[in-house]
Amino acid sequence: MTELRQAALSQIPTPRTPPDEAEPLRAALRRTPLTRIPVDGAVVVARPTAATDRDQIGDLHLRCSDTTRYHRYHCGLRQPTASMLDHMTDRAQGLYLAVHEPEGQMVGLCGLAFTRSPRTAELGLLVADAWQGRGIGRAVCELLLASATTAGYARVMAHVVAENRRVVAFAAGLGARPTASGDPCVVSMVFELDAHGGGPV
Ligand SMILES: CC(C)(COP(=O)(O)OP(=O)(O)OC[C@H]1O[C@@H](n2cnc3c(N)ncnc32)[C@H](O)[C@@H]1OP(=O)(O)O)[C@@H](O)C(=O)NCCC(=O)NCCS
Repeated sequence: MTELRQAALSQIPTPRTPPDEAEPLRAALRRTPLTRIPVDGAVVVARPTAATDRDQIGDLHLRCSDTTRYHRYHCGLRQPTASMLDHMTDRAQGLYLAVHEPEGQMVGLCGLAFTRSPRTAELGLLVADAWQGRGIGRAVCELLLASATTAGYARVMAHVVAENRRVVAFAAGLGARPTASGDPCVVSMVFELDAHGGGPV
């Protein structure tokens, strides 16, 4: 290349890569630590998932009723597919917390998936039937909302089967407002978060 051509090329402004708005929020969310949660008569541990959790996640799903799995995935899925397992164990795609009872068995998997919108995350909750109604879902949901708020997320969405009225009411009680999802059978519950760390508003 001639010196003249090099000089001409150096005059062309290099397009600037837009800063990745999502990454600092995702990195902050990934710092959510292992948390011990006292629930009705026991202390459970919620900790971020790892690639080695795939078998335990599969086993957790087999211990859930058809209704619980339907409410979580909106279809008759018995086990997560390989790509869903990737998603639930890959910190590049979200923050999932595995919940363990005192003997070590995985009894819940609750998480926030990153979305295309940098400041919005999608909430998914699953607690094995034998452990439902003891406060795990509420405690882990509050933990995830607090982590998302601290990380700087503006919004968390949960897509709930409309017939799942207890969970619609539960989310509304935590401050979410129902919005149309485009599917008449699904309600999108939207938590608008307080950017100053005060939890859902
Ligand atoms: C929703 C879910 C995670 C709650 O977990 P949990 O540990 O049972 O929750 P908690 O004991 O903290 O109770 C919180 C709320 O969950 C709901 N809940 C609890 N047990 C429930 C059950 N057996 N069936 C339906 N809803 C239940 C109730 O709304 C409850 O609120 P309330 O006590 O004010 O009625 C759990 O019921 C579950 O896995 N359901 C199937 C999947 C699902 O619906 N996910 C939400 C959409 S992503």
